[in-house]
Amino acid sequence: MGLMPNGSPYRVCLVCLGNICRSPMAEAVLRAKLLAAGLAGAVVVDSAGTGDWHVGHGADARARAALGARGYPTDHTARQFAARWFADRDLVLAMDGANLRELRRLAPDPETAERVRLLRSYDPKATGDLDVPDPYFGGDDGFELVLDQLERACDGLVDVLRRSLAS
Ligand code: 4NP
Repeated sequence: MGLMPNGSPYRVCLVCLGNICRSPMAEAVLRAKLLAAGLAGAVVVDSAGTGDWHVGHGADARARAALGARGYPTDHTARQFAARWFADRDLVLAMDGANLRELRRLAPDPETAERVRLLRSYDPKATGDLDVPDPYFGGDDGFELVLDQLERACDGLVDVLRRSLAS
């Protein structure tokens, strides 16, 4: 996972189902943590959903409120992941097992499927179920749990990126 040979940034795409709750939140958290780590120029982050229901919509109001309360800026328009995106992404991080399976189904070959991982696999303290639970049909506390999980996973991911991009 070293820097690209031509010096172009490492590209990470965060993916959930609708691209209005979990993955836009993950995008905001990861971008802020990369900025704080001095890696904003070295790693480019975006997000998408496996589904198309919310394409063109902003982030869910509850996601925006939860992000804002912790100081993360948001400016988001939902998009659907397309198989051709694999060519322009080094790492594709799924929020849950269903997203992971769908992304791997879209991958053109086994090597590409290997570049799809669960985001929470980067949280060294996460045990058991590594899903970020879908907060869409629940209450506000679901968004707080999601943010707690995303912050820990993004800390772990930034550590991995910092070490591998330096080598
Ligand atoms: P997300 O949440 O995948 O975290 O963006 C959802 C948003 C919308 C729907 C499901 C999950 N939906 O069924 O419309």
